[in-house]
Amino acid sequence: MKSNGYQSGFGNSFATEAVLGALPQGQNSPQRVAHGLYAEQLSGTAFTAPRSENRRSWLYRIRPAAMHGTFAPFLHSHFHNDFGTGPVTPDQLRWNPLPLPAAPVDFIDGLFTMAGNGSPAAQHGVGIHLYAANRDMQGRFFYDADGELLVVPQQGRLHIATELGVLEVEPQEIAVIPRGVRFRVELPDGASRGYVCENFGAQLRLPDLGPIGSNGLANSRDFLTPNAAYEDAEGEFELIAKFQGHLWRATIGHSPLDVVAWHGNYAPYKYDLRRFNTIGSISFDHPDPSIFLVLTSPSDTPGVGNMDFVIFPPRWLVAQHTFRPPWFHRNIASEFMGLVHGAYDAKAEGFAPGGASLHNCMTGHGPDAATFEKASNAELSKPDVIADTMAFMFETRAVIRPTQQALDTAHRQRDYQACWAGLQKHFKPVG
Ligand SMILES: [Fe+2]
Repeated sequence: MKSNGYQSGFGNSFATEAVLGALPQGQNSPQRVAHGLYAEQLSGTAFTAPRSENRRSWLYRIRPAAMHGTFAPFLHSHFHNDFGTGPVTPDQLRWNPLPLPAAPVDFIDGLFTMAGNGSPAAQHGVGIHLYAANRDMQGRFFYDADGELLVVPQQGRLHIATELGVLEVEPQEIAVIPRGVRFRVELPDGASRGYVCENFGAQLRLPDLGPIGSNGLANSRDFLTPNAAYEDAEGEFELIAKFQGHLWRATIGHSPLDVVAWHGNYAPYKYDLRRFNTIGSISFDHPDPSIFLVLTSPSDTPGVGNMDFVIFPPRWLVAQHTFRPPWFHRNIASEFMGLVHGAYDAKAEGFAPGGASLHNCMTGHGPDAATFEKASNAELSKPDVIADTMAFMFETRAVIRPTQQALDTAHRQRDYQACWAGLQKHFKPVG
């Protein structure tokens, strides 16, 4: 399936048809849809959700989504939502990049669950996964009934063919696939790696801007939703579903990516993180990192995110009398970080692109010893620029529980805490 281009804007009501005249005019479900298509509504919010929150799309497709074989459990030991209920370590944790596979592995088989909180049943929390894969999904389609998927590629482009159109995504871009939307991932560059946040809670949205005003941070027009594109294919395919934390498999005799036209505001989208209009201090000190918020999944408490997606993009550092890297801190929120590109300015080494760190609720962290010494003695009369970087954070209200496989894996850095061991005592009570 080839890309048919994109429509611009966040959460707009879009209308698109890959075949002229396929989209009904003036109503959603006519007695007979043009070209012999079936009408089907896909609802992402309760029917009665307030208008500002309400998300649904009408799909006009070759066959309805109901047509497939019986689901049977599909075993995938590395991709799940088993975050445990026992003790969880308050240690700082860090990992090297997930190794690329030696044998052929597709996007689904290549998923590796690192951590998470909440559950699909509770409809809040997140699953945090990595993927490392090297071949296209072949004859295989996937949907996640448990949450929307925020995909952050770190190496290799993704060709994501969805029911509603094609997303072409490269590192430093993100893709968001709504709950339930069926898709297939192809890897035009072969070996590929990245991060996936599976959001069980309220759908991601742009944050309010308050005193920033009507522009800035991620601007609505830079979000791109695909135009309709479809494939009319029959064969022996499989449909993998993620449902209540586990995978299921059914046979399907046709491609489910057969939506010829659709309209509505429940749809996948992509965003180029390099378009983020970064805002910061032009006097002294740092604003809180909420100034780097791209998308937020709100919780039921105002101002407290179920999950916030935050980036640390290229930026100028001009603050005077100020320790310019991120400061030492402890937060009530919990932070899972990744690095897409370049270097992260709070760490001299050890945090490689494709790597990850986890700093949970009230766990102290911040610059390592080398970064502290350098920044404490830096010349501040001139601006400094961090030109080559793209780090991000999945920040959550609830504690992020690492999975047992993430704690046991060989690529966990068991000596991570040593990066702070060299911090010197500088205290001089007199003079
Ligand atoms: Fe932090």
